[in-house]
Amino acid sequence: MPKILIKNAKALVGTHAPEVRRVAGAQMADLPLIENAWLQAENGRITGMGPMTDFPGVTDWNDLTVIEAEGRLVLPGWCDPHTHTVFAAPREQEFVDRINGLSYQEIAARGGGILNSARKLRDMSADDLYDQARQRLEEMMWQGTVAVEIKSGYGLTVESELKMLHVIARLRETLPLRIKATLLAAHAIPPEFTNDRNAWVDRIVEELIPVVARERLADHVDVFCETNYYTVEEMDRILQAGAEHGLPGKVHVNQFTSIGGIQAAVANKAWSVDHLEVMRPEDIDALVGSGTIPTVLPSCSFFLNIPYAPVRDLVTAGLPVALATDHNPGSTPSGNMNFILSLACLKLRMLPEEAVNAMTINAASAMGLSDHFGALSVGRNASLIITRPVPSLAYLPYAFGTDHIDTVIIDGTIIRSGTTVP
Ligand code: NIG
Ligand code: FE
Repeated sequence: MPKILIKNAKALVGTHAPEVRRVAGAQMADLPLIENAWLQAENGRITGMGPMTDFPGVTDWNDLTVIEAEGRLVLPGWCDPHTHTVFAAPREQEFVDRINGLSYQEIAARGGGILNSARKLRDMSADDLYDQARQRLEEMMWQGTVAVEIKSGYGLTVESELKMLHVIARLRETLPLRIKATLLAAHAIPPEFTNDRNAWVDRIVEELIPVVARERLADHVDVFCETNYYTVEEMDRILQAGAEHGLPGKVHVNQFTSIGGIQAAVANKAWSVDHLEVMRPEDIDALVGSGTIPTVLPSCSFFLNIPYAPVRDLVTAGLPVALATDHNPGSTPSGNMNFILSLACLKLRMLPEEAVNAMTINAASAMGLSDHFGALSVGRNASLIITRPVPSLAYLPYAFGTDHIDTVIIDGTIIRSGTTVP
């Protein structure tokens, strides 16, 4: 079995102990590191690491790849716990419409937005959807992403939602990165059900959730709980049905309005509440002590020109904030976690250490993966990033837009080395 030895690294960053599963509040600024360090991986796992002063030397050179990492940082690979990377077509015309003054909600009201994506996806073959999504995910891996959550939600019929989940299952089988799947059949009201929305929620609860659970096509359920989309009561029904079938919630709430979605999500033991651009004090209070992870999507705020989530208030309240891209054709046509790191520091006022924790250990936790992903510790998965030589950790978000990554390793296998696109 191939082995990897990384030597003389400037630092191993994010060396949380094996039992650490997430970091919350003031702890988020604590990103442990080992300076001038080595790390060894075998069988896809980290088998040893420490300072070079304690380096035991190499006894077995068989199948060993040695990486000299002088001046370079070694980080856990990025975890992206909220994306919609399976979609049929980009929507750059809506982007131009917004430049001309229309809002995201106005575009949706004219039949654009999610319904625009659903029309195109329903007509596209699973093979074509797979090929497109695969390209997007390959680019994301190249940019350092090693685990990702992908939602359905552009099908909006039983058949097309299942088609999307089958595409996600095929991506999971064929790509090296870890993939979690989420059923988001409650993304918009399907046009066929505008006058009978209850009937669509019935289909989700009585038909889709049981089938998806039985065939293990998803790990979670999601609802876009928002004014003009799904009500708190509808979300509550869907989350309850999900929980009964072993599919905990990860939900879209408080993107444009605060209507009580967080309280209902917490009551249903949702794993995460995502977006949170519009928060009342009681929404933050509801999360305290809940176990539900607030997941923030700053590139959506950037792209739609909407407020940024009040991350400082979430951290002050002692919560474990996670970050994600929200990669989708409408509100965030980018899956680049390195840009999220810069935005988190620039727009959410997160320290570089807080932001890195939010996109590694806490992001992994929001997908139930932080026992193996999101930190560098012996026994954890060897899925990591080696940067180019950089002066410091803060340099990564500071020099935004520059590709700082040299090497990406997933499950102990080098999937990117250097800057040449394969
Ligand atoms: O997370 N807000 C709901 N869903 C997506 C956008 C979907 C779309 O516009 O296609 C989001 O931003
Ligand atoms: Fe989203």
